[in-house]
Amino acid sequence: MRKSAMKKPKIITKLPGPKAKEVLRRDSKYISPSYTRSYPLVIEKGKGVWVTDIDGNTFLDLAAGIGVVASGHSHPAVVAAAKEQLDKFLHMSGTDFYYVKQAKLAEKLAEIVPGAKNKKVLFGNSGTEAVECAMKLARYHTRRPRYVAFTGAFHGRTMGSLSLTASKSIQRKYFAPLLPSVTHVPYAYCYRCPFNFKYPSCDLACITYIDDVVFKRVVPPEEVAAIFVESIQGEGGYIVPPRKFLPALRQLCDKYGILLIDDEVQAGMGRTGKMFGIEHFNTKADIYCIAKGIASGLPLGACVARAGIMDWQPGAHASTFGGNPVSCAAALKTIELLEHKLIENAAAVGKVALERLKDIADKYEFIGDVRGKGLMIGIELVADKTSKQPVGDKRNAVVYEAFKQGLLLLGAGESTLRLIPPLVISDSEMQVGIDIIESALKKIFRVG
Ligand SMILES: Cc1ncc(COP(=O)(O)O)c(C=O)c1O
Repeated sequence: MRKSAMKKPKIITKLPGPKAKEVLRRDSKYISPSYTRSYPLVIEKGKGVWVTDIDGNTFLDLAAGIGVVASGHSHPAVVAAAKEQLDKFLHMSGTDFYYVKQAKLAEKLAEIVPGAKNKKVLFGNSGTEAVECAMKLARYHTRRPRYVAFTGAFHGRTMGSLSLTASKSIQRKYFAPLLPSVTHVPYAYCYRCPFNFKYPSCDLACITYIDDVVFKRVVPPEEVAAIFVESIQGEGGYIVPPRKFLPALRQLCDKYGILLIDDEVQAGMGRTGKMFGIEHFNTKADIYCIAKGIASGLPLGACVARAGIMDWQPGAHASTFGGNPVSCAAALKTIELLEHKLIENAAAVGKVALERLKDIADKYEFIGDVRGKGLMIGIELVADKTSKQPVGDKRNAVVYEAFKQGLLLLGAGESTLRLIPPLVISDSEMQVGIDIIESALKKIFRVG
């Protein structure tokens, strides 16, 4: 989209630099050790896809604060919208009072979320709150107690959403008992099909398994309030399900009056080249969970459902901080930017990147799979293409090596690199990032 000179990362100190080291020292003394930092980046400022650390090193950011800064770091229009609101009032609590921005944003979400226009929104501050809201709403509306979720899913870390999460067992370790009413079933991870089948001759075994095994032998479908699904699985490894998976899941839900809940926290807000990931699969859900990219970095989560589903009484659910006016202002501006050009940019830059990464994958035995939609791309690393053995340590080493070369990357799943840049990234900036990824891969896998 933007024509940009070939700006490149610039590393001028040993990493971490001296000022970064001082922050790390304080951080390790006072911050919870439960956080998972892959490398010691201490940000000073960010602009677009570029991040400068406190020692003056410049990095290209393909992580976007875990997929959050949709319009790039400190987009001037988003900053201006937030500042304008800051000067008026910071908080009023949308659960007890009214303000324009919250109502306007709800109206906009009702328009852009797939399905009939007649929808209602409950605002929170994060992905996990959007999911908690959906869990409560599904029970309230259906008066049914149970949920189905997928292995590999990440829906959050509070006790309800954690009960749905089945991404890494460390995330659940020592936190039992979680909700006993969640049943996990295999996701459509075709590269590692849990049934050892191939799509499409598998006839969607992962869907028939739910109906023929789970619903017949384990869980009466009449007790299931909702099935939670990520339209593209994120933390689980950037897994794109086959074309017919979500439509078949929709059919299964309809067969038993179960609500389909689409967690768009990671795949939503333009990331995949459409406003919501589920739009690639011609399917509509009953309830949507949205967060991350919605406000380009300010905290905001939203649970969106048809008005007929969001039928609970005053007092049933609310949040003091949910729908903060500054976050709502940033979200309205973010959506405007997404609709104006950024979704289109995500689709175009992502397509070129995916093609190049597939060519790169053909060259190396250690790239098992490259997949994605728009700017949600995963590169699954393996010991070799035949054994497909995961190589988590090497993946982590590649992420660290990329950091040393000035590229911010994150892992996903057991052995996958994920590319989730801000949606303002240009083709040439993406190519700079891919050059560094290839260089880091060659170094860690000792090629060339
Ligand atoms: C699909 C999905 N749902 C929910 C969450 C939880 O979001 P948060 O960390 O904002 O609570 C995440 C976070 O990564 C996510 O990827």
